[in-house]
Amino acid sequence: MCGIVAYVGKQEALPIIIKGLKRLEYRGYDSAGVALLNENGLSIYKKKGKVSQLEDFLAQNQDIKSTIGIGHTRWATHGEPNDANAHPHYSSSENFAMIHNGIIENYEVLKTDLINKGYVFHSETDSEVFINFIEDVYKNNDCSIEEAVRLALHKVVGAYAIVIMHKEEPDTLIAARKGSPLVIGVGEDEYFLASDATPIIEYTNQVVYLDDYEIAVIRDNKLQIKTIENVETNPYINQLEMELEAIEKGGYEHFMLKEINEQPRSIADCMRGRLDAKNGRLVLGGLRDYMNKFQNADRIIIMACGTSWHAGLVAEYLFEEFARIPVEVEYASEFRYRNPVVSEKDFVIAISQSGETADTLAAIELAKSKGATIFGVCNVVGSSIPRATHAGSYTHAGPEIGVASTKAFTAQISVLTMMALMLGYQRGTLTESRYIQLLHELEAIPAKVEKALLMNDKVEKIAAQYKDARNFLYLGRGYNFPVALEGALKLKEISYIHAEGYPAAEMKHGPIALIDEEMPVVFIATKDSSYEKIVSNIQEVKARKGKVIAVVTEGDTQVKNMADHVIEIPETHEAFVPLLAVVPLQQLSYHIAVMRGCNVDQPRNLAKSVTVE
Ligand code: M6R
Repeated sequence: MCGIVAYVGKQEALPIIIKGLKRLEYRGYDSAGVALLNENGLSIYKKKGKVSQLEDFLAQNQDIKSTIGIGHTRWATHGEPNDANAHPHYSSSENFAMIHNGIIENYEVLKTDLINKGYVFHSETDSEVFINFIEDVYKNNDCSIEEAVRLALHKVVGAYAIVIMHKEEPDTLIAARKGSPLVIGVGEDEYFLASDATPIIEYTNQVVYLDDYEIAVIRDNKLQIKTIENVETNPYINQLEMELEAIEKGGYEHFMLKEINEQPRSIADCMRGRLDAKNGRLVLGGLRDYMNKFQNADRIIIMACGTSWHAGLVAEYLFEEFARIPVEVEYASEFRYRNPVVSEKDFVIAISQSGETADTLAAIELAKSKGATIFGVCNVVGSSIPRATHAGSYTHAGPEIGVASTKAFTAQISVLTMMALMLGYQRGTLTESRYIQLLHELEAIPAKVEKALLMNDKVEKIAAQYKDARNFLYLGRGYNFPVALEGALKLKEISYIHAEGYPAAEMKHGPIALIDEEMPVVFIATKDSSYEKIVSNIQEVKARKGKVIAVVTEGDTQVKNMADHVIEIPETHEAFVPLLAVVPLQQLSYHIAVMRGCNVDQPRNLAKSVTVE
C-alpha cells in the first residue's frame, strides 16, 4: 500500500509528481504530500485526504518551483490519517526528507534509542523514525548520504521502498527497496521513480526495476545502483509495453465500469498467441521448462488472497476435473504461519493481480524453502511475485485501476483454464477429441462475455430495487460456488452492504435462518451437472419468502418461473461458466454502489496493492 513518486531532471517536478500520485491513488488515499527543493530550501507540503485536497492546498503557495521532488499517497498503517502522519517526513534537522512505502517492524526500538539521544518526533509513523535513524547514522559516521542509507538499512527490519532528498544536494535522489516495489524511469537527462510504471509511462518507456536490497543513487544526471553489501550492479533497462490509454478512463465514469466492459478484450488478449483451437494448439511459454514437473507433481498447491483466491478455487475444480491431480487452495496469509507439509514433489501456483501482495510473497518464500516449484500467475509485469517465482504466465489483462478486481479475475481464470487443459492433455486424462472441443469452447468465451455484458440495463434495474438491502446472500454449486464468493466480495467491498457467499447446499446448515422477505438471495443457477439440486435450493428460499435473483443459462424456463428476477448468460461448458457468470455480479455490485453514492474505484479502508500483512 501507499504510492510513491519522485522526479529529478529538467522539467517542473510538481506537476509530474501530482499527476503520478493521482495515478497511484489506487494504492491508498488517506493523505498526500510532496517535498520540493529550490533556492528557498527543502519544503514539505502535505494534507490529510486525497491528492486533490493537496492540490487545493498547494494552490495557496507561491514558492513551489523546483526540478527535484518526492511525493506520497498514503494508506495508513502507523497512526491515523492526518496531516502530521502524512508523508514526506523531515528528519529532525529538516535536512533530509523521505517518502516510504512499507512497514518498519523494529521502529519502536529505534525510536526509543533516538528519543534518548534527544530526537523529537512530530508523527506517530514508523517512517519518521526511519529517516531520523538515517540522519543519526549520517551524523555519527562522517560519510556520504548513500553510505548512511546503506549502513542504516542493515539495522532496519521490515519492508520498504524509499526515496530520500537532502537539503545540501539539490540534484540527488537516493532510493532503496526491500519487499515494496520501486520502478525507475530513465528519460533523457531526467529520472522518474514510482511504485509502479503508471506515473512514468507518458515520459519514457525505459525502466529499471529495483531489486530487494538495492540502493539507487541518482546524482548529476547519472544512475548508479549498488547492493546494500556495497557491490555495484549494472542497471538492466526494460522496455515498457503499457499504453497510456490503458490507464485512463476513456470516457467511462469509473475505472471499474471500464474494466468490467474490457473483459471480452482482456480475455482475448490473455489467450492471444497461446490458444489456437483450429490447429489444436495451446502453448503457455512460461510452462515450457516446467511441464515435466507440473505433469508429475504429487499435488498442486494454490496460494492467493481475495479475488485471486477465488480464481484459485475455480482452478481447483479445473485441475481436478481435467488433469486428475489433487489440489489444495490456500489463503497465503494462513499458509505462511502454519507449518505446512510441502515437498519438492509439489507444484505451487501463486496467483496475484498486483504481484505485490505481502502474504502471497511470504507464502512463496516458505514453499520455495521447502523445495517446491513455484509458478506465478500475475498481471503486473515486472512486479515482485513474478520475480520471486521459478516461472509463470502473465494474465495480460492490462492495468487494473479500480480497487475491486474484475478483469484480472477473468484473466486469471483464463490462464488457469489453459494450464488445466494443457496438463490434462499431456497427462492423457483428456482425450484428444474432448481437448479440441474444449479449446473451441474456450476460444468462444470472449464473444460470449460480450453478450453477457448486454444484460447491463436489466442488472441496473435490479440494482435499483435492492440498493437499500442490508444483507445479501450469494449461492452457487460446483464451479459456481467460487463465483458466489466473488459476487459477495464485490458487493461488500464497494457498496458496504453485508454479503455472504456460500455453497448452495450449505444453506440448510445455517444461513437459511437468515432468510425472510427482506433478504435478496443471488443464485448462480446455470444449466450444469448440479442444476436440479440448485433448483431445489431456490425452492427452499422461495418457501421462506426470500427474494431470488438468479443468473441462468439463456433460454432457461424452470428457474424463470420461480425466481423474482433472472439474468441470462450464454450457454457454455460448465467449467467455463465462471468467466460469464461473474459478469452480471460485477455489474450488480457496481450499480448498487453507484446508487448508494459510494466511491466505486476507491472504496473506504481498502487499497489495490496490499503490501502489508
Ligand atoms: O493483487 P492481488 O491479486 O494479490 O490482491 C489480492 C487481494 O488483495 C485482492 O483480490 C482484493 O481482494 C480485491 N480488493 C478484490 O476485489
